[in-house]
Amino acid sequence: MENFDWKNLPFGYYKTDYNVRCYFRDGKWGPLEVTDSEYISIHMAATALHYGQEAFEGLKAYRGKDGRIRLFRWEENARRLIHSARGIYMAEVPVELFKEAVFKAVKLNEKYVPPYGTGASLYIRPLLIGSGAEVGVKPSPEYIFLVFVTPVGPYFKDGIKPVNMMISRDFDRAAPQGTGTFKVGGNYAASLRALMAAKDSGYATAIFLDAKEKKYIDECGPANFFGIKNNTYVTPKSESILNSITNMSLIKVAEDMGMRTERRRVPVEELAEFEEAGACGTAAVITPIAKIFDPGTGKVYEFCKNGNPGPVTLKLYKKITGIQYGEEEDPYGWTTVIE
Ligand code: PLP
Ligand code: COI
Repeated sequence: MENFDWKNLPFGYYKTDYNVRCYFRDGKWGPLEVTDSEYISIHMAATALHYGQEAFEGLKAYRGKDGRIRLFRWEENARRLIHSARGIYMAEVPVELFKEAVFKAVKLNEKYVPPYGTGASLYIRPLLIGSGAEVGVKPSPEYIFLVFVTPVGPYFKDGIKPVNMMISRDFDRAAPQGTGTFKVGGNYAASLRALMAAKDSGYATAIFLDAKEKKYIDECGPANFFGIKNNTYVTPKSESILNSITNMSLIKVAEDMGMRTERRRVPVEELAEFEEAGACGTAAVITPIAKIFDPGTGKVYEFCKNGNPGPVTLKLYKKITGIQYGEEEDPYGWTTVIE
């Protein structure tokens, strides 16, 4: 991997050497298999293709300052995949199987874990799909669980540089009591109209409002929203958003930095009161928000007037990435070194 341009990696797919797979048949998971093929062969009537029986996860492996490779809170991803599987009636991937597959996929592709200091990391994508043939709407009897990895740069291309976002007034991502808390492909398909509308208007992504009342901030593209005011970290409570592991971690870190934290409904108008705002997630890491445009009211909310991230956002970013890259003590036991 000499001469590889790690510093300019996009958040995209880059072929690595191996991926791992496991098949659920006759009511049980089979052995883990390793392959170098980038393709899967599935029945044309597979439930994943027709009825969206598909869930995925996203986590990263980080090359530390000490050269070692760390995973961040992988058990939480394993648990969330179980939550997603239950949500759309798929076979659950046991935590141990998830662990074995993720660790193996990273280990086998160790050379693709970007060097420390490049700002890049190895993105791990576990995927669970219904592979059995059905034509009626019902859960598949068979599933494929696979894990591939790919080296990535930051999702929003300038890393910690603030981006502009647009509130989606025309399209919803997920309904209350719908599938919003599950990491299932359908939610991302549902987000595309809003995303493309935002992009076409020159914004990095769309911010979704609660689908019922259209009053409260819900999801921030492929990330959770947070706002900072009066030494308080505020993040939406909603029954239609993904429970972000990054957000959960930031809440803890913020508390330990002496901030107050609030997980509650966040009305759109409150945007005017935040000193700083951002999006957080595995891919997004912490992306500061410069401006939010609300086409419903024509209002523009500004957070970073000089084009730089705010001091609290920066402090949180340094702390969380410091733990992930092994620069800081990990008093929470969130990281696991892959030996
Ligand atoms: N919200 C959505 C819709 C996402 O796709 C993601 C990414 O996983 C997140 C939030 C952030 O979650 P996490 O911090 O667990 O990656
Ligand atoms: C992640 O942060 O892992 C995500 O899933 C975002 C992804 C949809 C690009």
